[in-house]
Amino acid sequence: MADTDMSDVQESDCEDIHCPPGRDYDTFMQETAGIRQLYEAGVPFFTKEQLQDLSRQLKQAENSDKPEILIKGLEGTEETFEVKTGVTRAGSEPGTEWVLKAPAIEYRTFGFLTSYRAYQMDGYSDLSLRVLHYMELRDEVTKELLPGFRYAVDSIDIIKNSFTSCIQTWEASESYAQLQEIVESRENFPPITKIVALALGSMQPRSLNNWDHRSEFQHALALTLRDIVGKRQGETSGNVQCYVQDPAYTEVDKSILKTYNITILEDPDAFVEIDASTIVLTFAPDVPVRQIVADIARPAMMIWNTCEEERWMHNGREQFMYDYLPYQLRVFSS
Ligand SMILES: C[S@@+](CC[C@H](N)C(=O)[O-])C[C@H]1O[C@@H](n2cnc3c(N)ncnc32)[C@H](O)[C@@H]1O
Repeated sequence: MADTDMSDVQESDCEDIHCPPGRDYDTFMQETAGIRQLYEAGVPFFTKEQLQDLSRQLKQAENSDKPEILIKGLEGTEETFEVKTGVTRAGSEPGTEWVLKAPAIEYRTFGFLTSYRAYQMDGYSDLSLRVLHYMELRDEVTKELLPGFRYAVDSIDIIKNSFTSCIQTWEASESYAQLQEIVESRENFPPITKIVALALGSMQPRSLNNWDHRSEFQHALALTLRDIVGKRQGETSGNVQCYVQDPAYTEVDKSILKTYNITILEDPDAFVEIDASTIVLTFAPDVPVRQIVADIARPAMMIWNTCEEERWMHNGREQFMYDYLPYQLRVFSS
């Protein structure tokens, strides 16, 4: 649950929904013409400098008496976001309250900024980044998170053992053997110094009935890549760094991942790490990883899962991921 609207309508549409007067289609086209021109001219909507600046401001805000973040828009608009971590609001049920979590980044793509539906709801905006707070629902007195917001398993040993067993299952699988074969046999494999894995999720399940272990298998894949790429390059695996970023990581996740020598980064720092010697991994991310990566880097390889809506791949800047990337693996998942 977000404190501000996060619905990311990724494409322009003309559907008529209730909106304040003055937000008709012609005005929308006029107001967003500049954004379209910038995109057509190849102006990046995300840059490493902009992300580094936001990262610095978010870290500064943690220790500031008046925590504020200044965001600059593509056409010069400026927005100041007041950080309100820990502030509470009355919950809908008596005895409950919402609590604002640490600030999160909303990444707003070209598709979003030129969406008529988004314009009808919020009006013109040239901000490709915004900051918002997600909220959690808890008991007003005990401060215990309500079901749906808390984890079903808290024991670090259970999660650790489950992760170990997922690694073993993965390493015994046909897919593992295929991946190993691809990495070992391809000629001209680019030099790799980093694996950057985004949005692999928390390994702690919220419900035992729906514990699908997806996150554990995805982390197992990241570890495998580090090992087999390191071996191929004739180096110890220590020479290929593995970075992960997911705001959902819990203290349990962090402590387990550290034991595997995986470096956990705060949003947006993992994006900043991506360069030409990086393998990027992401599966079903809640953030537009493709669009951000398309603007900031040309990684050596990307591994992702199939997207239901791939229209932007064929007419947007992300086209390079088909045309340019020497290696890419697309994992087809149900
Ligand atoms: C739909 S879940 C997918 C999780 C996992 N990859 C899977 O396949 O089950 C989306 C994930 O994106 C993560 N996410 C959201 N914002 C992110 C960000 N800025 N950077 C990295 N991950 C993010 C969420 O915390 C969540 O774990």
